[in-house]
Amino acid sequence: TEAWGPDDDEPRRHHGPVRVRVPAKINMHLGVGPLRPDGYHELNTVYHAISLFDELTARPGDTLALTMEGEGAGSLALDETNLIIRAARALAARARVPAHARLHLRKTIPLAAGLAGGSADAAATLLACDLLWGTGMSRDELAEIGATLGSDVPFLLHGGTALGTGHGESVSPILARPTTWHWVVAVADGGLSTPEVYAKLDALRESPFPPKAVPGADDLMSALRQRDPAVLGAALANDLQPAAIALRPELSGVLEAGQEAGALAALVSGSGPTCVFLAAGAADAERIAGVLNAAGICREAVTARGPMPGARVT
Ligand code: C5P
Repeated sequence: TEAWGPDDDEPRRHHGPVRVRVPAKINMHLGVGPLRPDGYHELNTVYHAISLFDELTARPGDTLALTMEGEGAGSLALDETNLIIRAARALAARARVPAHARLHLRKTIPLAAGLAGGSADAAATLLACDLLWGTGMSRDELAEIGATLGSDVPFLLHGGTALGTGHGESVSPILARPTTWHWVVAVADGGLSTPEVYAKLDALRESPFPPKAVPGADDLMSALRQRDPAVLGAALANDLQPAAIALRPELSGVLEAGQEAGALAALVSGSGPTCVFLAAGAADAERIAGVLNAAGICREAVTARGPMPGARVT
């Protein structure tokens, strides 16, 4: 099953290191509603977890300490502002235990990429510290704490393919026959700020030529049941795409290059700037990634599969 829970045979308390693997997400469908009084936009989204992973290890310690390697090492602050530290402190406060752990992050998911790397790390931290400290929270309790840290945290605890509503924090799994989808993920040089992309969409919607809002997720939901990548490709949609392109015009060229290389569909992932391409199969995905890398129009194109489970002990 995709979801972990009390039925799993995972030990409920670890004395040695707890190592958790967590996937990145893309949004197969991202419908953005109006800005709410609390500063978030009402969302209707279909989340999809892909095989691009961060790994968080939690060990017993006398204080709370974080180290990291990989993507963003040297630029990502490891202080109290880091979502990992904030997640550990939020869980400790809720469980009334001291926030003592030595945490180490091995990061592969790029920063500010529209792949929810920060939320993924927070999800991994909640699970790892729950097991390290034996706090025995249910998945739903962890998701509730996670929702206060980042909109995508509850999904990254669940994984798979799921419908997200509210500001994204309200997640329900989509039951479909198991199908593996093949993606190409084109990572850009430099990130985009999620709040800036949402603000750009608000501005575009007030302009004389507002972007056409994407239709509801119904087409995508029925496409998911058909297991045909061409059908799925035609249903992928993202309201944030015009805003991401307005802030980063070269993304149009990346999307076009992938389509010319034979992708069934091309779209910006979440708030971008990562672009994702749906391929007909694994070999096609490898070929498209090769074409994008040879063209040198993105930092790196890699292949990925989905859906993947959410945060899990390895
Ligand atoms: O929840 P998260 O930390 O990922 O959100 C980052 C920012 O993105 C929010 O502060 C908000 O500006 C914007 N956002 C939004 N509507 C959402 C999710 C995020 O406006 N549904």
